[in-house]
Amino acid sequence: WFARIPRAERDAIFGLVEDFQKDTSKPKVNLGIGVFRTDEDKPYILKCVQKAEEKILKKRMDKEYSPVAGFEIFKKLSMDFTFGKSSVFNKPGRHVTFQGLSGCGGLSIAAQFLRMFYPGRKMVYISDPTWPNHQNLFNKLGLKTDTYRYYDAENISLDFDGMMEDIHKMPYRSIILFHASAHNPTGFDPTEEQWKEITEEVKKRKLYVIMDNAYQGFASGDLNKDAQSFRIMAKRRVNMVLVTSYAKNFGLYGERVGATSFLVDSKHEADKILSQLILLIRANHSNPPLHGARIVEEVFTDPCLTKLWIEELKIMANRLKSARKQLLQKLKETGSSRNWDFITKQIGMFSYTGLTKEQIIRLQKEFHIYMLTSGRLAIPGITSKNVEYVAKCIHKVTS
Ligand code: LMR
Repeated sequence: WFARIPRAERDAIFGLVEDFQKDTSKPKVNLGIGVFRTDEDKPYILKCVQKAEEKILKKRMDKEYSPVAGFEIFKKLSMDFTFGKSSVFNKPGRHVTFQGLSGCGGLSIAAQFLRMFYPGRKMVYISDPTWPNHQNLFNKLGLKTDTYRYYDAENISLDFDGMMEDIHKMPYRSIILFHASAHNPTGFDPTEEQWKEITEEVKKRKLYVIMDNAYQGFASGDLNKDAQSFRIMAKRRVNMVLVTSYAKNFGLYGERVGATSFLVDSKHEADKILSQLILLIRANHSNPPLHGARIVEEVFTDPCLTKLWIEELKIMANRLKSARKQLLQKLKETGSSRNWDFITKQIGMFSYTGLTKEQIIRLQKEFHIYMLTSGRLAIPGITSKNVEYVAKCIHKVTS
């Protein structure tokens, strides 16, 4: 029966990484996956992470199982980081938090929990477009998905009116997913005022919110600004689960570390929810890994490391801003008749370029520049060395 299994489509992002690695041409440029790179095109291990690891090593800690939902201290620190120390939800009985396997693992447990217990409409509305794995993840775990408008292709901007209209039409008690900051793939986020409007509409429709928080601190370099979406919603008591990943903001991609928090009303609710989450986690991965969580804990509890981390977040955010500026500048220098100004208006890892599938295939085949066929370009792959080459090739395929 193995032979009868249909072949699945390759993952759009990791499939492209394989293609890039196999390509022996020079120059070649990887603008596919969203991982931070230095201007020398190297992975960046944060200094605060290295220092935390040195401290951990000295402590000669054991390698016992961590609690199924993660350590209490880690969960508490994650709540302090996300909702803030003074949030009404940052108290026992007002949240149920577990250590997830980064964003994907947190979303996966949250999805399974909602599929089993959510009493409303089990339909998750995701933005059009969104991170390619959202739809895959929810569908594989038994939750249907539908989309809401998010992106205005003509003007290369956020389609705020379209989004509001679509939310307004959503059946009561549906589930909606938002990107907390640095929307992947478009790089366009609602403003603070717009988040407030969204919040009111979400309340009117009594929607349940899944907030995907993959870039807090990394998006703008400001921990609070990148948290405004879900803090605004929490203040208005929107029903929500916040799924935080520490992959990008700590550069801990492969450590799979994150925290997921359900906001609840009482200790009675919290205890029951936690008991079910523990069963689910036990059936999925049993216990979360230790190392990444220890690093995050160390950085959050040591004031010197926290300070260093905040500096490094700014360095990463600024490096991406500067790569955007350079790319825009070089595109202008090619004499391109297109308006590329949107590149510096977007934020975070990605630029949604409006390039067509055909143009992107040409970029890959002729120039060995790898991007997702959706038009998403990963900004960290742009360096001072390759920016001119990339700009010239983009100009060639678009003129
Ligand atoms: C991306 O969107 O490229 C990253 O978030 C990596 C991933 O897991 O897809």
